[in-house]
Amino acid sequence: MSSKASVTATSPRGEATPAPVASGRETVVSSADASVTREDVKTSYRRWAPVYDWMFGASLQDGRNKLIAHVERLKPKRLLEIGVGTGLLVPRYPRSTQVVGIDISEDMLAAAQRRVTALGLTNVELRAGDCEQMNFADGEFDCVVIPYVLSVTPDPARLVHEAIRVCAPEGRIIVANHFNGSKSWALFEKLYAPLAAKIGFRSDFSYEEHILAHPWTVESVETANWLGLSKVVVLRKR
Ligand SMILES: C[S@@+](CC[C@H](N)C(=O)[O-])C[C@H]1O[C@@H](n2cnc3c(N)ncnc32)[C@H](O)[C@@H]1O
Repeated sequence: MSSKASVTATSPRGEATPAPVASGRETVVSSADASVTREDVKTSYRRWAPVYDWMFGASLQDGRNKLIAHVERLKPKRLLEIGVGTGLLVPRYPRSTQVVGIDISEDMLAAAQRRVTALGLTNVELRAGDCEQMNFADGEFDCVVIPYVLSVTPDPARLVHEAIRVCAPEGRIIVANHFNGSKSWALFEKLYAPLAAKIGFRSDFSYEEHILAHPWTVESVETANWLGLSKVVVLRKR
């Protein structure tokens, strides 16, 4: 184990090709709606990086706390954090868990690296890369977490397909995200929906399409954050 976490670039397995993509059990049709591109994600998180912790640290912390409670219960040996961002979660994982954190934004990842170095987290490795096409082997992780990334990534179905692929059989995938349908957030969803590419997330995001339609088993669902903004969903790989 190295004394300092490293940032390395993942080599993509190929060009991002349009779906369908094979899920291993069935074919999942890509959900790419062209509303958010990879460049949009990089550009918006370049802007968010300096203020991210201030804007989205405390406001989304309840969901992170609920996600971490599941990780502590599961005690995974090897965990993948998809979209590690500025690394707000990395000090919270059990030190006995080997953590790999990946992000497509170099600016967000640089903040995560500063945090990992400052805290001397020897169990955390950071990598730059696109989580819609990872070069990990099938079933490498017994836990995969996706905190506030599903409605950000250009093609959520491809990202889910990759999360399921790299998760071990009977392993857990934990999603924290905003989903539409709450009366408290209906106006926010409507107003911000056309701005997804600019603000870096989709406000109008369907639980049925992005959770229930995939070949995994829903183990639990909790609401989280102010006025039930988000859900924390624990999924088991079949
Ligand atoms: C809202 S932030 C969440 C950060 C962190 N997980 C947290 O809890 O605060 C979304 C992050 O996902 C990253 N991201 C979006 N799509 C990605 C992809 N396809 N591959 C890797 N990272 C991605 C963004 O760059 C950004 O850092």
